[in-house]
Amino acid sequence: MVTGKPLNIMAVSGSLRADSSNTAILKYLQKAVPQHNFWIYDGLDKLPHFNPALDTDPSPVQVQDLRDLIADADGLIICTPEYAFGVPGSLKNMLDWTVSSGSLVNKPVALITASSVGENAHASLIKTLEVLTARVVDEGTLLIPFIRTKMNAANEITDTQTERDIQNVLTALLAEIV
Ligand SMILES: Cc1cc2nc3c(=O)[nH]c(=O)nc-3n(C[C@H](O)[C@H](O)[C@H](O)COP(=O)(O)O)c2cc1C
Repeated sequence: MVTGKPLNIMAVSGSLRADSSNTAILKYLQKAVPQHNFWIYDGLDKLPHFNPALDTDPSPVQVQDLRDLIADADGLIICTPEYAFGVPGSLKNMLDWTVSSGSLVNKPVALITASSVGENAHASLIKTLEVLTARVVDEGTLLIPFIRTKMNAANEITDTQTERDIQNVLTALLAEIV
């Protein structure tokens, strides 16, 4: 993987399940780049429901924490399932909190959608990220269908092509930042 100065990478899992395959993918990538400061955001379920009336100065403390973490990040990697043909509500809620702050403007972002099918959430997220004027990385978006067939019961990736694909996504994100 890319070497050089340590980069700050913020990872966001769209699944809140302790046993999540999406979070497992992010943990795999975290281990792959020990030379970088790669953290997995754990505040998704603590954010208030987005309400423009709460989007004041100062903003709710969890929202300010989110915005500070994004500001510290050189780039983001989102890894998410699809629910009911759409983006998980908690992840969309997080993205809604970044609208007024412009936190994602020009921020390099990679996106992995790992789900049973996932194509609706994947397309919808790309559209949302574009509207937020995030810098969605070329070669940095990946749809992984049938994710459960590509991992074992211990949430280890068993499919070598998937391993390669997710590494390539992270490499593309790092290359965009450097
Ligand atoms: C309520 C619910 C709705 C779901 N809807 C979809 C769906 O519309 N499309 C899809 O591809 N998978 C759907 N799934 C399957 C999830 O994508 C799959 O369980 C995935 O592995 C969850 O990710 P995780 O392991 O990171 O939690 C749904 C799962 C749940 C629990």
